[in-house]
Amino acid sequence: MRTQVAIIGAGPAGLLLGHILHRVGIQFVILEQKSREYILGRIRAGVLEQGSVDILHELGLDSDLAERGLTHHGIYLQYEGQRHHIDFLDLVGRTVTIYGQQALVKHLLAEHDRIGSDVRFEVDDVQPHEVEGDAPFVTAVHDGEELRIDCDFVIGSDGYHGVCRPAIPGIRALERSYPYAWLGILSHVPPSTDDLIYALHPSGFAMHSMRSLEVSRLYLQVDPDESIDDWPDDRIWEQLQLRLGTPGWTLHEGAISEKSITPMRSFVASTLEHGRLFLAGDAGHIVPPTGAKGLNSAIADVALLGRSLVARYGGDEGPLKSYSRSALARQWKVQQFSQWMTEMLHVHRESPDEATRAFRYRTQVGQLEYTTGSRHAQAALAEQYAGLPF
Ligand code: APR
Ligand code: PHB
Repeated sequence: MRTQVAIIGAGPAGLLLGHILHRVGIQFVILEQKSREYILGRIRAGVLEQGSVDILHELGLDSDLAERGLTHHGIYLQYEGQRHHIDFLDLVGRTVTIYGQQALVKHLLAEHDRIGSDVRFEVDDVQPHEVEGDAPFVTAVHDGEELRIDCDFVIGSDGYHGVCRPAIPGIRALERSYPYAWLGILSHVPPSTDDLIYALHPSGFAMHSMRSLEVSRLYLQVDPDESIDDWPDDRIWEQLQLRLGTPGWTLHEGAISEKSITPMRSFVASTLEHGRLFLAGDAGHIVPPTGAKGLNSAIADVALLGRSLVARYGGDEGPLKSYSRSALARQWKVQQFSQWMTEMLHVHRESPDEATRAFRYRTQVGQLEYTTGSRHAQAALAEQYAGLPF
């Protein structure tokens, strides 16, 4: 078969790119390794930058978001048992919206069903070929049949573990892992806070997020080698109460419906382009979750890539030629913000020397005091959290 753009991976990046192309009549096929049920069941990120909300609105893909998204004007930073509000709306005139990646994927998929897109699930052995020339193709196996899809462009929106990045000869990566992980839970209890709380506590970072007015999402810093089996529900709530507690405030507990431990990593590929193959989203870069940038970076990439492909089909090669450079330039700013938030808020236990650990902790408190005490510092945080321009 033949199409114009072969998209590999049906995460938010691949699904959204399909909609951008559909709008201007560019043909595409989306090939996804996992089942539809698996994709719809994955619990991932939960915060949309203003720019992400704006693009979904422009594309007419925000009906569910407008109904169920929760607009937040800021966040709380907490340390030494005190909570400080950072008011994005007041500081930079922008907001963020709480809306689960799971809900976004569900909506994007439902819209693909409605417009009759060719989205195939449970596709095995996907492989891009001859992307250096002007007649690339993708091979795969679907329903026991071998597929060959000839196309103009191949898009690797196949996540961190995908096949497209390794298909780029000589590609390099700059990366770092962190000596801590996040234990995340979903609980059927109304959030105990209006805005998200990010807390530094001597026992480790904790955070209070939410998915709706009925469902809370909470996180605890744990060691990366810890097993979820060592964290019965009682122990999780006890640590959340300890780390998030402030005088006069109550953290409401509820039944835990999901819990898992996720390691944290920063990763940026050296390029997002090889001939007619382009990478977008987690396939090209990963951030630790502290700044809520993973999903937003995927959306920013495809907004740019989508525009660049549309320009290319209109006869202008320029934007596609600079896609990798432009997307990576934005991504490195996002990387430094994510790393900054992460290091400021987590307890660094790796040094064997108690005095070094204490020094580190006190400088983090100093950093938080500066950040919450200076309007300039608050504005810098607000500008980056609410999102750099796309
Ligand atoms: N063939 C086909 N599909 C593949 C392959 C493959 N070989 N390998 C991976 N995939 C699919 C995955 O199953 C997944 O559904 O590609 C999709 C990639 O989706 P995501 O991992 O959600 O990545 P992306 O769309 O870039 O979205 C980034 O996801 O991990 C979070 O924090 C991250 O919120 C961010 C968002
Ligand atoms: C979430 O709700 O899952 C969430 C929110 C903010 C973050 C990370 C995760 O920084």
